[in-house]
Amino acid sequence: MNPIIPLPVSAVETGAAFTLTDNTTITIDANNDELAAIGGYLAGWLGAAGGWELPVTTAAAPRAGAIALTLSGADASLGAEGYQLTVTPEGVVIAANRPAGLFYGVQTLRQLLPAELEGQAGRSAQDVNLADWTIPTVVIRDAPRFGWRGMMLDVARHFPAGGVEDVKRLIDLMALYKLNRLHLHLTDDQGWRLMIESWPRLAEVGGSMAVDGDPGGYFTQAEYAGLVAYAASRYIDVVPEIDLPGHTNAALASYPELNCDGTAPDLYTDIGVGFSSLCIDKEITYQFVDDVIREVAALTPGPFIHVGGDEALSTPEADYVRFMTRVQQIVQAHGKQMLAWEEAARIELAPGSAVQHWHDEMAAHAASQGAQVIMSPAAHSYLDMKYDDTTALGLNWAGNVSVEKAYSWDPAAVQPGIAESAILGVEAPLWTETVRTLEELEYLVFPRLLGIAEIGWSPAAGRSWKEYRVRLAGHAARLEALGVNFHPLVE
Ligand code: ACM
Repeated sequence: MNPIIPLPVSAVETGAAFTLTDNTTITIDANNDELAAIGGYLAGWLGAAGGWELPVTTAAAPRAGAIALTLSGADASLGAEGYQLTVTPEGVVIAANRPAGLFYGVQTLRQLLPAELEGQAGRSAQDVNLADWTIPTVVIRDAPRFGWRGMMLDVARHFPAGGVEDVKRLIDLMALYKLNRLHLHLTDDQGWRLMIESWPRLAEVGGSMAVDGDPGGYFTQAEYAGLVAYAASRYIDVVPEIDLPGHTNAALASYPELNCDGTAPDLYTDIGVGFSSLCIDKEITYQFVDDVIREVAALTPGPFIHVGGDEALSTPEADYVRFMTRVQQIVQAHGKQMLAWEEAARIELAPGSAVQHWHDEMAAHAASQGAQVIMSPAAHSYLDMKYDDTTALGLNWAGNVSVEKAYSWDPAAVQPGIAESAILGVEAPLWTETVRTLEELEYLVFPRLLGIAEIGWSPAAGRSWKEYRVRLAGHAARLEALGVNFHPLVE
């Protein structure tokens, strides 16, 4: 059997095989548009690989020779994202309680099929040898350990060279590994990357440049809404971050009135941190925050708005607490829950607010207040750290993060005071100070992101680098077929 990442909860091979033929069909439950979309996604993938069109039809029960996607018959204990995948010589049945589970079962099926089928769009049926399209018979039961399995992309330090298309490619690659949150770091000192209609200069001026004076860019609201919808079709929630009150030079440069002295600073293209702050005593600051959060909330189907709160080194402590407390109220007034980096645990967190651990011990203080925590320890999960001393890209302030180090940690053991019950899940951030192109992005993300995906999904018991590294090596051909520019999988 092909190696599966993330490792399923259980997989029992039963000693025979199922072979796809050009008569294979996909069946779904009747009257369910979401299943029709997942069936269409699978048909599109198999169809591109085989150069043919697979019919997606409704059926009340699994049929011989078919791949059935059904919301009947799954165990309730599999929850909203789990699935059962049963391959017999007669066919394939994926059963789940919710459509998300079927989508993840489809990703597992995809990984069971030959890696060479990836990235085959455009080939014709004559090129296909169906004897190769064989899957060992197996019974898989699977469900995630954590509900939050994320990646963060900093589009502020550098805006993706290919714009929306680069982000969609990343979304597609995330989906293959069952990740379900894409946190977009939309604003920072070097760039503001989302059009805010009530404050248009944020994007027009604040988005006009990037680190080193590289080309800027921003998402229009229509482009951003398109990304949110595309991600949703892959069962990924986009989590927007507006970083406040520090990391705000791009905003301060766009509107002089946001500055305490009424003077706009120059745009900033270096990579220092901690020098900028909104003006905490000016009422217009809160009008600005309210307008931005209102527009961002309207673009966000998910529950959380991330408001940064990290490294506000130019904001006095008392001001920080006063400001972030008000920001939390603003987020709630727009019907959302506040998410922030762990420094925000210095305020009294409201029920439903959550923090993201990255580099200090404040997240434990958030957990002691009853808040949920997302685990992104820099020394293990920061995708912008160099792999080793020879890596040309990336930074190393949290040390090098080898492929092994990115895999070898447990969210419930990495920080004292944060128990498993307080943990929403894991997230791997890619900060882009040194990242200019999609190729560079992929080099830092892959393969470390696969390890983070497994930490978020698979049971802790029995996970080992020794075993994982073999499975990971087995994904090289798949990533190659997908054209991913990955760092060597195993050092
Ligand atoms: C961070 O890396 N400043 C959250």
